[in-house]
Amino acid sequence: MTAKPDVLVLTALTPESVVKRLSEKVTLHRTYGDSAEARAALLLNVGSSIRAIVTGGVAGAPADLLAKLPHVELIAVNGVGVDAVALDVARDRGIVVTTTPGVLTDDVADLALLLAMSVARRLPALDRYARDGSWPKRRPMPMGSSLAGKVAGIYGYGQIGRAVASRLAACGMLLCYYQPRPVANADVPRKESLLALADASDYLVVCAPGGPATLRSVNGDVLRALGPAGVLINVARGSLVDEAALVRALEAGYIAGAGLDVFVDEPNVSEGLKKRDNVVLTPHAASFTHETRGAMSRVVADNVLRHFGLD
Ligand code: 8YV
Repeated sequence: MTAKPDVLVLTALTPESVVKRLSEKVTLHRTYGDSAEARAALLLNVGSSIRAIVTGGVAGAPADLLAKLPHVELIAVNGVGVDAVALDVARDRGIVVTTTPGVLTDDVADLALLLAMSVARRLPALDRYARDGSWPKRRPMPMGSSLAGKVAGIYGYGQIGRAVASRLAACGMLLCYYQPRPVANADVPRKESLLALADASDYLVVCAPGGPATLRSVNGDVLRALGPAGVLINVARGSLVDEAALVRALEAGYIAGAGLDVFVDEPNVSEGLKKRDNVVLTPHAASFTHETRGAMSRVVADNVLRHFGLD
């Protein structure tokens, strides 16, 4: 009998039945939640036998990790973003990279809508008001603003961008999008640049992939163009936004608010964002539902087993 392939697991898979199914066919080395020292020790021990990595969209597979895994053949990403995978190294070494497309689209789009609504209707402040005794004291209640009639500019009009657009359209919002390559037969108009998109929008919704091409593309100029009534929503990657410029724009009132699921230095959220009342924050949780994380994990397991001909 040939030995089971060794697989390094850097991210949580759920439910446990998926892990069990995988571990019947491959040997899992789980380092999720381990300290850096424990992970380094594990890599020293088993690094040379690892043939596949299971990783998250943020952890990815950086070049220094791949350098410690001379026999890795597969990087199975538990997500759709590959911006944290050293794709040049993967290409050079012929390492296969897989993702989990499709299964997380609806939940990510739902969270974009939830963030837009929460900022517009000041949900955290209303929730606090209902709990903290403000209501019986008849303190002034935080008033929201409508989504209907406002313009949403979708930055990145792929599967997720389009799913966000259809949700926002259902709220009566008007839509436009920007991405460098026009989408054939798009149902909403395309602006010629990100700046033009921000200028035309009340809500700028970031759905574009991370990576060098989009790094800090939502900069101070784009935020200024969004304007004092404008709101930034980001469900893509923190790297797309110049976070320092965003904090400055919020402080100076160049924009009205933000709804953010992703950050430059996860899991750390900058103090400048945390202390602002006009910002709604979630901890990179757009795909974090039982259904979607279960579906993602199953796709990851299928990808691993298929790669080794064990499905
Ligand atoms: C996951 C994501 O939260 O798909 C992605 O790229 O960012 C998310 O769906 C992430 O992959 C989990 O690490």
